[in-house]
Amino acid sequence: MKSDLLFGQEYWSSRYATGRTGWDAGIITPPLRDYFAQLGPPTALRILIPGAGKGYEAEYLYTMGWPNVFVADLAPEALQALQARVPDFPADHLLQEDFFALSPEPPYNLIVEQTFFCAIDPARRADYARKCSELLRPGGKLMGVLFDREFGSASEPPFGGTREEYRAYFAPYFEFLHFETAYNSLKPRQGQELFICLKNRH
Ligand SMILES: C[S@@+](CC[C@H](N)C(=O)[O-])C[C@H]1O[C@@H](n2cnc3c(N)ncnc32)[C@H](O)[C@@H]1O
Repeated sequence: MKSDLLFGQEYWSSRYATGRTGWDAGIITPPLRDYFAQLGPPTALRILIPGAGKGYEAEYLYTMGWPNVFVADLAPEALQALQARVPDFPADHLLQEDFFALSPEPPYNLIVEQTFFCAIDPARRADYARKCSELLRPGGKLMGVLFDREFGSASEPPFGGTREEYRAYFAPYFEFLHFETAYNSLKPRQGQELFICLKNRH
């Protein structure tokens, strides 16, 4: 896949191939699970999980009966892992595409963020916020967790940051419903994650 990304498909595929996947929790994480649990019974909402990796959130939602869950990832290995665990996950909901090139038609109701924002080139963070807004219906939500810490002078992902920095990217497009330290992070991430739930104003 040709792309202008600083970290493209070959980079991510090599991380999967060499097992440098420290982000991979192997399960759905509690902040996302608890948010999904309070959504009530499954509906036709269109849900996008960009940079989904092996897709534990997608597996959880789909298995709970949510029919319109889409995952996007550059790395075919990641999508294949989800497909292998959940053979009836619709193949046309597995998008091996660059998030920044995804079509906003039809728009999504919910975008789920988990260790994707920290994986992109930090210079593209404002683009990420704008793209999420573009992909969502007016009133749609972007929810998930962002790292609320720095990772030193890293030359490759993950890239950290501060909530003040993040606020500036999202403020032009979103109303802030939640933007606070997650209380239910996985133990190794406790106190280091910001739980966000942002409502699209556009
Ligand atoms: C740090 S991993 C996180 C994976 C998953 N969210 C998790 O928590 O296990 C980042 C993922 O984003 C994917 N990715 C990176 N840049 C991307 C882009 N521009 N579009 C789509 N996927 C991308 C990578 O292939 C990788 O699977």
